[in-house]
Amino acid sequence: MARLSVRELLNTEPASQDVQIEGWVRTFRSNRFIALNDGSTINNIQCVVDFENFDEELIKSITTGSAVRVKGALVESQGRGQRVEIQVKDIFVHGSADPETYPIQPKKHSLEFLREKAHLRVRTNTFSAVMRLRSALSFAIHSYFQQNGFYYMHSPIITGSDAEGAGEMFRVTTLDAKNPPLTEEGNVDYKEDFFGKETNLTVSGQLEAEAYAMGLGKVYTFGPTFRAENSNTSRHLAEFWMIEPEMAFYDLDANMDLAEDFIKWVISYVLENCEDDLKFLEQRLLDEEKSKPQAERSEMALIEKLKFVAENNFKRVSYTEAIDILRNSKPNKKKKFDYIIEEWGADLQSEHERYLVEKHFKCPVILFDYPANIKAFYMRLNEDGKTVRAMDVLFPGIGEIVGGAQREERLDVLKEKMAKLGIEEEELWWYLELRKFGTAIHSGFGLGFERLVLFVTGMGNIRDVIPFPRTPQNAEF
Ligand code: 4AD
Ligand code: MG
Repeated sequence: MARLSVRELLNTEPASQDVQIEGWVRTFRSNRFIALNDGSTINNIQCVVDFENFDEELIKSITTGSAVRVKGALVESQGRGQRVEIQVKDIFVHGSADPETYPIQPKKHSLEFLREKAHLRVRTNTFSAVMRLRSALSFAIHSYFQQNGFYYMHSPIITGSDAEGAGEMFRVTTLDAKNPPLTEEGNVDYKEDFFGKETNLTVSGQLEAEAYAMGLGKVYTFGPTFRAENSNTSRHLAEFWMIEPEMAFYDLDANMDLAEDFIKWVISYVLENCEDDLKFLEQRLLDEEKSKPQAERSEMALIEKLKFVAENNFKRVSYTEAIDILRNSKPNKKKKFDYIIEEWGADLQSEHERYLVEKHFKCPVILFDYPANIKAFYMRLNEDGKTVRAMDVLFPGIGEIVGGAQREERLDVLKEKMAKLGIEEEELWWYLELRKFGTAIHSGFGLGFERLVLFVTGMGNIRDVIPFPRTPQNAEF
């Protein structure tokens, strides 16, 4: 008998043919109707059991959460809500689930509760839909780059450099924490460590991607990155996945064009390929919003919002224009922002980014040409001597989803910048050599994958769009 999934069976013409299916029991009503799900789709297949024909103990062991194999005839459904069902002839219970202790019962569980059951939560409709979308988005991302002449480049996870210069890194060491070797001055002697120097988990694959772009032309990374920032927000993870394209001979405008085209393409991909899951998540959101006051409800339903982003131009605005808009905005004048914008040069907080996107422009925004001193050392200095060719893509409900830049390709300017920031040339000697040998303008950006998944699924907390989230004080699973 062919191994078919629930998704395939639901699309099969019923002709009383024998079929076999394996999955987990979502519900078992009246000792008669099993709703079975195997993860292949948001939809369950109904299996109808004549319990009189089966052993009483067997029927008792078919509880919510048990894993079963069902054999039977695929017939047109007698009931409403589904096209086909299985008239069960044989059931094998792989493993039962004790109803007293199995936490995922058929009722509404809060997302907070399910976070504590991260090993079981994928058996709910919400999490299975989110994780299927996460998988589809990954595939779409690879497809986009592979179709557009980019090479997938694996940047190292363990590095010796701090790409973002923010110092928020997890150290990698094999030294004895209780009794580390010391230098004459009494500091930990990392020369004795595994790599003979201080190393950490990477915060970004960008610097290595730059090296590869200067030979392969267009590359992208897609891997885990790590930040030891102690921000307990619904937008930050300590371990998150980042996509970082890097392109030789691209200036900032070409970089912005790519970012916009790329995001629109992957969103269109899931609109075309993940309709059932998106519809489910849209309904989930609508139900959730019913309990909110009118003013807090979103103006667009999920699918409409995704279509809007895929079909409309992002608004491109310079940092300087954005500061003017913010300075004259109502929440700034009425001191409603936590951080009041007073002068040019202020760093933008997520409240400002969201004001620009959600209240002022009402569409995704790309901000560019930021003050040099609030951005990383590698960004290209503009003629004005005070701004750099940086760009951030800001999204409704999310804030910053992409951060990128045209890179500083001039050796002398880069060295000067590093000196100003106290970055040792020896630490990045190889990065500097890229500017000595065949340097050229180049650009790239980083997309936070979980922030994209948040946007596409309409979920509210980044902990709910990655299988096993890593956040401060939390690495249980
Ligand atoms: O803006 P960031 O720090 O930029 C870089 O790391 C550059 N090296 C990228 C590049 O140009 N190649 O991070 C890029 C994106 C952010 O826009 C955000 O979406 C995401 O990564 N991000 C996080 N996502 C989840 N948790 C965190 N702690 C994140 N920090 C950044
Ligand atoms: Mg950033």
